[in-house]
Amino acid sequence: MKLTSRARFSTVCLHAGQDPDPSTGAIITPIYQTSTYVQDELGKHKGYEYARTQNPTRMALERNLAAIEGGKAGFAFASGMAAIGAIATLLKSGDHVVVSDNTYGGTFRLFDKVLTRYQLCFTYVDTSRLDEVERAITPATRMLFVETPTNPVMRLTDLRAAADLAHRRSVRLVVDNTFASPYIQRPIEFGADLVTHSTTKYLNGHSDSVGGIVVATRDDDIEWLKFVQNAEGAILGPFDSWLVLRGTKTLALRMQQHNANGLALAQFLSTHPKVKHVYYPWLPAHPQYELAQRQMRGFGGMLAFELGSLEAARRLLNSVRLHALAESLGGVETLISHPATMTHASVPPETRARIGITDGLVRISAGIEDIDDLKEDLARALDAV
Ligand SMILES: Cc1ncc(COP(=O)(O)O)c(C=O)c1O
Repeated sequence: MKLTSRARFSTVCLHAGQDPDPSTGAIITPIYQTSTYVQDELGKHKGYEYARTQNPTRMALERNLAAIEGGKAGFAFASGMAAIGAIATLLKSGDHVVVSDNTYGGTFRLFDKVLTRYQLCFTYVDTSRLDEVERAITPATRMLFVETPTNPVMRLTDLRAAADLAHRRSVRLVVDNTFASPYIQRPIEFGADLVTHSTTKYLNGHSDSVGGIVVATRDDDIEWLKFVQNAEGAILGPFDSWLVLRGTKTLALRMQQHNANGLALAQFLSTHPKVKHVYYPWLPAHPQYELAQRQMRGFGGMLAFELGSLEAARRLLNSVRLHALAESLGGVETLISHPATMTHASVPPETRARIGITDGLVRISAGIEDIDDLKEDLARALDAV
């Protein structure tokens, strides 16, 4: 498939990295479910030797996602956490990392419980406050690891300002772009050096695969990540690679619907008498509305709202029918969850309180159902609160 350098986002999503299969012309990249490749003669092969190192389905997905994020190369891993683990191998003992304080719990667990055993050190700050980031940077700092928006209170970090600050201090900017998806926000355009995703979420989009990706821009990082992907071996398998490739073909369409449904639910909830507060930066009253407009294209399907007490949250969560009570996000089906007892149960209560994760907070990952059905379901459940 020949894409021009001007190809627009949805065209890139559909076609980048994929050519019709050379042996049959199949328009969809096949699932190359093989562990090895037969060589023509000693020392002569077709570019594929062993499937941990090279797999055509995985490599098509890696090219596809690198193009979608506007990077130079992509590396697909068995999960979002394996991708973040691979990024951490760019560090050496004694190095320091500044991290968004409200980062995903699994990322915190990897940094705090595993990597600190290897003389790496981490400082957690509110990265929406660049003065705090600047104060946290030391001569040993090698990385600024940012999640924007954060989960579940949707706090934003100014990506261009963060990249400028990081680069002034010779620090790499790494952005976990899972919550936004590249349709909504492309961190490399603002100066990020590395972008990572749990492909489990919006990129795959169908709640049927676990995976991760790292998209890199610097040649030294690309060389190292390629080496580490093979050396550690936490690769994404061919079937999951194929599922995510299928997912990215509809990324633009799905995200338009997630944007519309997320906004409509946020508007509906913000006028409901039983809802005390709505976290959704695409609402003009949100304090970071202007930043959201500047660096995002819609706010997608993630929103959270405050009902005031655990009992109120429990009544709502036990009354919804169409909203599925489940962890995870970014799929076509709408999910609803209770951060304090589900995704953020392992976060100490005082940290939860500081971030705003109260017992009355409810999170929704708006899917792509008909908005009237979602609103009816919520309205009925709110009657029970
Ligand atoms: C923002 C973010 N990053 C990374 C991960 C980890 O991804 P995975 O579950 O695919 O390992 C998650 C999972 O929920 C996440 O929400």
